Amino acid sequence: MDPPYGDHIDYSEDPRCIGKLSAYDPKYYQAMRGAFDEAFRVLKPGGVLAVYVCDYFETKKGLAPVGFGLFSIFTVRFIPIDIVSVVRRNKSLLKGNFHQAAERDNFFLRGFNYLFLARKPEEAPRRQRGRSAR
Ligand SMILES: C[S@@+](CC[C@H](N)C(=O)[O-])C[C@H]1O[C@@H](n2cnc3c(N)ncnc32)[C@H](O)[C@@H]1O
Repeated sequence: MDPPYGDHIDYSEDPRCIGKLSAYDPKYYQAMRGAFDEAFRVLKPGGVLAVYVCDYFETKKGLAPVGFGLFSIFTVRFIPIDIVSVVRRNKSLLKGNFHQAAERDNFFLRGFNYLFLARKPEEAPRRQRGRSAR
């Protein structure tokens, strides 16, 4: 999945659009938890979830570490396989004004996306019985 990671792009008028939720709003993470639950439901045991996502930064609000935030949610149920850094080849990053602004205002450009890979377990973990193990 290649989900929205903030509300900076207007994807649709659909009120269920996750792209209407700010990366600084806990509701964004709740919505993504629902998407991961659905991925878990539809994947076969042993199936692989791939999540392509970017961190987000606004000068006034600071860093929204979306990648780590989502990773910590889906790894509750999925087993991590790998974390791949995908260099962004977005042409706008090559524009001089972004580089000048980064140097002038002392911030880093979002130069990569995460590609997270994780597996649905072959078997669902056995439900814990009431007693604790001794
Ligand atoms: C970062 S874009 C990726 C688009 C697509 N991978 C592509 O390359 O065209 C995120 C996409 O998620 C869709 N989206 C947002 N909320 C959604 C939801 N609740 N259910 C399904 N898709 C949703 C948006 O409409 C948008 O197309």
